[in-house]
Amino acid sequence: MSTSAAGRERRVVVLESGWRFLRSGVAGAESPEFDDGAWDVVRVPHDWAIRGPFDRNHDLQIKTVVEDGEKRPSEHIARTGGLPHVGQGWYRRKFGVPPGSRGKRFFLEFDGVMANSRVYVNGEYVGSWPYGYSSFCFEITDQVRFGAENLLAVSLEVKPNASRWYPGAGIYRNVRLVVTGQLRVAHWGTWVTTPEIREGRAAVRVRTELDSHSGCAEDAELETRILDDSGAEVARGAESVRVEGSAQVDQALEIESPALWSPGSPRLYTALSSVSVGGEIVDRHETSFGIREFRFDSDEGFFLNGRSTKLKGVCMHHDLGPLGAAVNRRALERQLEILVGMGCNAVRTSHNPPAPELLELCDRMGLLVIDEAFDEWRLAKVENGYNLLFDDWVERDLRAMIRRDRNHPCVIMWSIGNEVPEQRSEDGAVVARMLADICHQEDPTRPTTLGFNNQEAAIRNGLPDVVDVPGWNYKPEKYLEFHRDHPGWKVYGSETESCVSSRGVYHFPVEEVKRRQMEHESNHVSSYDMCSPQWGCAPDVGFAVQDDCPFSAGEFVWTGFDYLGEPTPYNHRWPSRSSYFGILDLCGFHKDRYYAYRSKWRPEVETLHLFPHWNWEGREGEVVPVHCYTSFRSAELFLNGESQGVRRKDPGSVYDRYRLRWNDVRYQPGVLKVVALDEDARPVSSREVRTTGAAARIELRPDRSEIAADGRDLSFITVRITDADGRVCPCAGNLVSFELDGPGRIAAVGSGDPTSLEPFEADERRAFNGLCLLIVKSAEKQSGRVKVRATSPGLEAAEIAVSCV
Ligand code: GAL
Repeated sequence: MSTSAAGRERRVVVLESGWRFLRSGVAGAESPEFDDGAWDVVRVPHDWAIRGPFDRNHDLQIKTVVEDGEKRPSEHIARTGGLPHVGQGWYRRKFGVPPGSRGKRFFLEFDGVMANSRVYVNGEYVGSWPYGYSSFCFEITDQVRFGAENLLAVSLEVKPNASRWYPGAGIYRNVRLVVTGQLRVAHWGTWVTTPEIREGRAAVRVRTELDSHSGCAEDAELETRILDDSGAEVARGAESVRVEGSAQVDQALEIESPALWSPGSPRLYTALSSVSVGGEIVDRHETSFGIREFRFDSDEGFFLNGRSTKLKGVCMHHDLGPLGAAVNRRALERQLEILVGMGCNAVRTSHNPPAPELLELCDRMGLLVIDEAFDEWRLAKVENGYNLLFDDWVERDLRAMIRRDRNHPCVIMWSIGNEVPEQRSEDGAVVARMLADICHQEDPTRPTTLGFNNQEAAIRNGLPDVVDVPGWNYKPEKYLEFHRDHPGWKVYGSETESCVSSRGVYHFPVEEVKRRQMEHESNHVSSYDMCSPQWGCAPDVGFAVQDDCPFSAGEFVWTGFDYLGEPTPYNHRWPSRSSYFGILDLCGFHKDRYYAYRSKWRPEVETLHLFPHWNWEGREGEVVPVHCYTSFRSAELFLNGESQGVRRKDPGSVYDRYRLRWNDVRYQPGVLKVVALDEDARPVSSREVRTTGAAARIELRPDRSEIAADGRDLSFITVRITDADGRVCPCAGNLVSFELDGPGRIAAVGSGDPTSLEPFEADERRAFNGLCLLIVKSAEKQSGRVKVRATSPGLEAAEIAVSCV
């Protein structure tokens, strides 16, 4: 149990340890008398399905996926990851009430429970929340007992056919017990906006909702202090207020010389609210916010703080690869670090509200966010999907998302949906209007958006006119037409590319393939980045559209990371169980494509990335095309010292505009060297790829060798299989075993192979094309060194230490 005191009166207890879990739907488990002694002991956040085993029959969906252009029903294997998430479960946890809390109010805050949760305290039902991605809060003051242990019990159920990707299962986000006085700042009760930033000043409006359980009237004072990121006070205001049940207080403050928030300089402020009665503070609350202004322009794209800014975005599902859906701050932070390193400045939370930690990190690290609510409205994509909840829950879910997230400077738009079938309905615009209106009521400061894939029908039915900034999924060839025919529309790619590849895999001959299904017997997709489903395209095409349409605000590539489920183009071929769409693989290892984006999105950083690898035994004398993603305009390629010619980027060609290609190289083992040339054809930089020797050693490279001893922090250790000279063997698939000694444990292992059925919770992993990943988690409150040893038959072992402090 960890405690964070957000103020003198309010107590927040994160309910992490001490949970009992049963993966079944037994009757009567809400009762305090029920014996859960035989249940598993787990920590929350928890995802019961990630440990596997994988099985083709888990959530096998037999259906016609209209969105993918299918005409007949067929088996969709591992659409949701081939993991055992379908079913019922129970969680139970005892909690004590802090001493001296008689007369206080008690709340349970859930950041998200997958799914259909029902919450009981001391056997009494207190509420339920079906949508697994929403955050919610229940007051439990009337159920809490003093002088005795209390029992929190949560039942939940994940239905089959309820998702198009891996949803995870269980209490997969954080839960908090919050204890306050009778009068408090309401849940999500502060709302900070910055209506005007002008002449070195920012107007700050703080709306605060207070609520009082007793129902009786109280005269209170609300003081709000604004602190900058060094903790210095920069503004202050106080109001007297009479609270009769509830009250709303508006305060207008001003900050001089505000530090504006932007991706390059994510400066934050804190609003500290204190509520007092008779001079005594009864509640305190902190709200983090930022000061920035932005606008979309139909001719010139997106502007942040007055500066034209291209959205270089990626779509992300919520799973954390081998760690599953259970939220972990460091795992999220690492994903974002990798994306920022690539030049990415924006994330679309496809297709659901994210964990609150993601937005906190995006605020702090400077990423813009499209906060998306739904993948489905009233019309189904999957039979047990959101369509079942729409009528009863849509308003509550949408308001919950906006009230929770509206103080985050990173959030720039509310997305009311993705590719909803209502695009094709005559009344689709009515539903869209209802949802857009809710967004505007909750937050008039941000535009609404929606991702359209069925553009013609949507336009005919008037949906794009209802949202402020229509988002276009795919069909980049339409942007010019939209701009011409609808000059008032702001244009951006809400979902683009959908290029597919398996890290380090190359197939010959190299050709553009645009097919829903691919047939390679390996269930892999070539990494020359020219393969996509029919609706997708190569990154090269995406770049060209953005360059040729300066009115476009930018794009959100499908996807930043590979995710569990949706193994297009092998939706019908076990054992594919995770996606091929990622720019990064499921472990966060760079695919070649990473360098395509970095060369385009961060041209100021030198990129000179040659591929494929150069271990093609058996292909001697045969053609192995060589490509290069680079920030330079031209380069010369040498094979074993012999020039293969100079190539220059050619704006007139799809595949030579952003990459350099040598299509006729005949393979000979040895050294492939690329020399970048400046405008005067002088060499300015070079890189080599060599044929490696046999696998000889294991190398361990932790992303951090010192982590916090808090039971949550992670060290991501890249495991490299190298030859005797330390070069990664690009085809190595050695099985590596891990032994840990010290206060830490293996959180997960992975390799980025989308066809591997090895469990993620294991002490061994087969490398995939030379790499695998070991994720080590610290133990709670136990500092010391964790010795990590990796062995594999025939290879020199490796050992490193991770310090937990
Ligand atoms: C889109 C959809 C995404 C994903 C993607 C794959 O149409 O919005 O969720 O399915 O296709 O290309």
